[in-house]
Order: sequence, then C-alpha cells, then structure tokens
Amino acid sequence: MTNQTQPHQQASNLWSSRLAFILAAAGSAVGLGNIWKFPYITGEHGGGAFVLVYLVCIAIIGVPVLIAETMIGRRGGQSPVATMRSLTDSEGTARGWRIIGWNGVIASFLVLSFYSVIGGWALVYIGKAAAGLFTGADAETIGGQFGNLLANPWELLLWHSVFMAIVVLIVGRGIRSGLERAVNTLMPLLFILLVVMVFYAMNSGSFGRAVDFMFAPDFSKLTTKGVLVALGHAAFTLSIGIGVLMAYGSYLPKKVNIARTAMTIAVLDTSVALLAGLAIFPLVFANGLEPGTGPGLIFVTLPLAFGQMTGGVLFGVIFFALLLVAAVTSAISMLEPVVEWLEEHKGINRFKSALAGGLAIWFVGIGTVLSFNVWSDIHPLGFLAFFEGKTVFDLLDFLVSNLMMPLGGLAIALFAGWAMRREGLMEDIGLRGGVYRSFMVVLRYLTPAGILVVFLYNLI
Ligand code: PHE
Repeated sequence: MTNQTQPHQQASNLWSSRLAFILAAAGSAVGLGNIWKFPYITGEHGGGAFVLVYLVCIAIIGVPVLIAETMIGRRGGQSPVATMRSLTDSEGTARGWRIIGWNGVIASFLVLSFYSVIGGWALVYIGKAAAGLFTGADAETIGGQFGNLLANPWELLLWHSVFMAIVVLIVGRGIRSGLERAVNTLMPLLFILLVVMVFYAMNSGSFGRAVDFMFAPDFSKLTTKGVLVALGHAAFTLSIGIGVLMAYGSYLPKKVNIARTAMTIAVLDTSVALLAGLAIFPLVFANGLEPGTGPGLIFVTLPLAFGQMTGGVLFGVIFFALLLVAAVTSAISMLEPVVEWLEEHKGINRFKSALAGGLAIWFVGIGTVLSFNVWSDIHPLGFLAFFEGKTVFDLLDFLVSNLMMPLGGLAIALFAGWAMRREGLMEDIGLRGGVYRSFMVVLRYLTPAGILVVFLYNLI
C-alpha cells in the first residue's frame, strides 16, 4: 500500500519510536479503569472469582484483540471509520465490517462523556489533599466529604469542564507534541507511588484478608452478570474494541513488533490494576468499610490512609495528581477517534475538531453529572430487573463497557481472524511459526467463543 491511502503513515506523523507508542498506548490503557474502577467492581462482585475471570478475559480476549486492533489500525493508517472503509475494500470483505469503525467513534464519544466527570473528581481531590482535609479525619468524615461532592451538581460540572478543557487543549495541539510528552515521565512515577501505597497497606494490618479477598476465588459469589462485567472491564482497561488502538496504531511504524508491544502493554496494565487493589482493600478491611460500596471506593479509602500517614498531605497531592495524569492520558486517547473522524470526514482542522468534539462530549457528560444528585432517582430502564436502580451514568457505563467494547472486540477478532486475507498477516502481527498458528487459533475460535458465551449466559 502507498502512503496515499495511509495518510497517517507519512514519516512526519509516525510515533518517534516503539517506546513512544508503548507509552502512549499504555497511557491509554492505564487510567481510572485500573485505579478507580477495578477495585470498586471487584468489591461489588465479590472478589477472587471475579478477579480470576477478569484475568482469563485479559489473556484470551484482551490481548488477542489488542494485537488485532493495532494491526488493523496500522494497515489502514487513517481514522477508524476510514480505516475500516479502505480495508473492507482492499481486503475484499463485506461492507458490514465497517460498523467496527462507527462503533469505535460513537463508543469513544460516549465513554469520554462520563470518564471526564470522574476525572474531575481526581482534580477535586488534589485540592482536598493539599488543603489537609484528610489529616486525622475518620472514615465517616471522609465519606461525608465525598458525599457532599456528589451532591453538588455545580461543583461536579465545574471540574468536569476543567478536565475536558485540559483534554481538548492537549489533543488540539497535535498527536506528537501533545500526547508523547505527557506520558513519558509521569506513568513510571505513578507506578512507583502505587508500590509505595501497597507497602503502606501491608503494614495496616488487614493485608492478608485483602489478599484472600482478591485472590482466593469463591465462585458462589460470582454471578453471570459479574462475568459480563469482568469481560467488559478487560476490554475497558485495555482500551480495546472502540477504535482507540486503531487510531493509535495508524501512527505506528511498520518495523514495530505488534505482538510484543501488546504483551508489554497488557502486563503493565494488569500490574497497575492489581497493585491498586492491593493498596486499597487492606485499608477497606482495616477500617471496617464495605468493599462493595461502588464508585466512591478509592475516594474514601485512600484519603483515610493519607490522613493517617506521615507526609500524608504530600503523598495525597502527588497521588491524586498522578491519577489525574493517568486519567488525562486515557481521555486524550478517547477523543482521538472522534477528532480524526471530524478531520477526515468534515474537513475541520485538528484544533477545531478537538474543540467541537470536546464541546459535544462535555454536553453529554452533564447527564453523568446529574446522575449523582438531581437525577439520582431516575432509572431510565428501571422497569427491567437487570437494570434495576441504574442511573444514567450506570447505563452509559454499561452500554459502552459491557456492550459496545466487548462486541467491538468480537467484531475485530472475527474480521482479523476470518475476513482479512492471510498474506502478510504473520509479519504484521510479529509472530512466527507455531506461536503464530496458536495465536490464530485463539483469535479465530477462543476469543469469539469466549465473548459469545458470556453474552449468551447473560441472555438466558
Ligand atoms: N483503558 C482506560 C482505563 O482503564 C479507559 C479507556 C477506555 C481508554 C476506552 C480508552 C478507551 O482507564
């Protein structure tokens, strides 16, 4: 293929190195999903068995789709929608596969609308930590602070707006200068700080109970819905199935080995989630808190720890600042497919695309803001038992994380495994011989079957 059909594959647009891509893709993967969402859904779904299913999903569904999606992105070299359009033509496949591109743009639009609201919470908590509000405070006080934040739509709206503005500015400035610089130094720092928090948690007294909770599977606590949530989270945490990796892959130089890169990203991402769990659950048990309290979990447990430890103000500020960075590097990747689509299909320049896309997403995000207060009693699908008590935010999260992302992943696995031509696939993926053949078996059979089984079980 020539550069004419793969605009992003022109030298000036490419990632400067394999490392830059790893950092950006890992920056996308590691985010609120690992530190905020993973612990709270693990708590809600009973611990060990849920974690086990999640890990299996990462291995047989997450990694293969991560590889396939990046490969498709690099081959197409354009926005997810245009990439799917040109690949369905050049591979001579049915046009229906183009839905993968659309699913991506729409899902990343929706996911950012609520992600940004939670990103705003991280902003608020930097301020709270700096003001010393946690020092010496008990669980009730800290829980009350979180409750007050949720109860105030204006405050949530303000920080949601600030968060979106940051994301729009970074994306608007362009792929290289904006994205690369942000991830380079700060991600490793976050990792180190999480390790520090795990050490702190080890001394808190309930470490053993937390390890049991996370790693001793009790299948009686696992529901079919829990399995669906675990699958959805495996997709969410790796940022697969919604065009983000397709968009990032479009800037990836041909010489980079995709399979190896994908493994690195998956290992990094999973380690961060497990570390976050190990930092949080000991505190939950030591303070007599409930693991299943929902989205507020880290905003209640970690401040308690910061309030008690020496240097807690500093640690608290740094931690929430790094959480913010992790959230921003994920959020910029969510805006990317939307911006690429606007640039290519509407001919709007990058900055204006970021601004227009950002504004529309910000507006939809107001629905999430209101879900925690004014609309907290509105349950749009409450008449279905499955969605009982679910707010607009819960439904959006469910739609994107548990439906659009896994189904997008399914379509990607099928497209790469069955529809695309085999020539050049092995080289593109970067595997050889028996490993390649085994990988293809997984991608063609195991990955789709895994996703389908989870869905069927939830339907019956
Ligand atoms: N993987 C990100 C996280 O764990 C979330 C994300 C989802 C990013 C979808 C991009 C696309 O926080």
